[in-house]
Amino acid sequence: MILGLDTELSEKDVNPIGDKQIFFDGNCLNIVSKQSVLLTLPNLWLRDNCLCDECRNVETEEKSFILSTVSCDLTPSMVDLTEDMLSIGWPDGHQSDYVLADILELSKERHAPTMSWGKGFQPEYVNWSSFLADDATALIALTAFLQTGVMIIDGAPSQSNSLELLASRLGPIREVLFDRIHNVCLETRVYNVAHTALALPPHNDFASYSFPPSAQALHMLENGAEKGSSIILDAWAVAEKIRRQRPDFFTTLCDFAVPFRQFDEDNETYAVEPIIKCDSGGNIISVRFSNQLMQTIDPMRTGVNDFYQAYHCLCCHMTDSDNHVKFRLEGGHILLVAAHRVLHAREAFVPSGKRHLQDAYFELDNIANKVITLNKYKAALYD
Ligand SMILES: [Fe+2]
Ligand SMILES: [Zn+2]
Repeated sequence: MILGLDTELSEKDVNPIGDKQIFFDGNCLNIVSKQSVLLTLPNLWLRDNCLCDECRNVETEEKSFILSTVSCDLTPSMVDLTEDMLSIGWPDGHQSDYVLADILELSKERHAPTMSWGKGFQPEYVNWSSFLADDATALIALTAFLQTGVMIIDGAPSQSNSLELLASRLGPIREVLFDRIHNVCLETRVYNVAHTALALPPHNDFASYSFPPSAQALHMLENGAEKGSSIILDAWAVAEKIRRQRPDFFTTLCDFAVPFRQFDEDNETYAVEPIIKCDSGGNIISVRFSNQLMQTIDPMRTGVNDFYQAYHCLCCHMTDSDNHVKFRLEGGHILLVAAHRVLHAREAFVPSGKRHLQDAYFELDNIANKVITLNKYKAALYD
């Protein structure tokens, strides 16, 4: 059935088409099914998302139509709705077709949602050789990694710079200043407390970058030291706890920007950013915490006292062993963390034997890309 809007559809009118009805409300087209609104489609959304070859680059599937070529009060001149197809005619004669099922699919998340850690949580282990050689193993491990933010690879080589080999699974190394692959041992140049035998409180690395690396691999080449257990902490769970218990503290930690600095004789990285960041839906997307890199805040800045009350609460949660997951990284273990969520820490160690760790950074977007491509290969195999 084709409806000419000037005669048959006006605002708030309801028109039955099959088992569905459409009506216009303001500058949106609504599709009603079984007495509830199935879809609300703004006119500009409809025009912007035309799938025709004129509005898309056929080769790349990218959008080529741009909204500035139509007026902001654009209204369809014709609507046709069959069971699953919506067709719109525009005043300039252009026609757009949409599959309703495809529009409904848009509400689905692109990636599996993140999962919180249950009681007694410990990271999953995956074998180095299987992870690199077997796509199915890598897919299972990386899918779980995106959900929990942590995994451990065991059986890794003890050679220096073996982290380079993970690029086939994790994407390219995200280089930062100081080193491409960082050595954490007593025998290196000291520009960070990590290069001593002292305890390290939970932190993410390079809080001093405006966008710190979003994934970090910590490769224990050799661990002959006594003590020095590794610790991880789900900083998003901590931030959620604060949001529940003290929403005012949570807001302060989202709003108050804190300076962080990491430097040596040749370099300085410096960023002024809030500790907690949320997306536009209020979901936590990043917790930045590094007691060692945090700089002195100008005490005369507005809100410093409120910030310190909230920061005290945060520090108590960060150092509370109830929030810590502890294990020992042996030689050949690689701890991989989603670094904007999972903080790492270490207990003090006794350097009775050599302890040598190497760090390299990756980007979570590239790991998510790997999960998508591995899923595509898997789907193609079973086609
Ligand atoms: Fe670190
Ligand atoms: Zn088009």
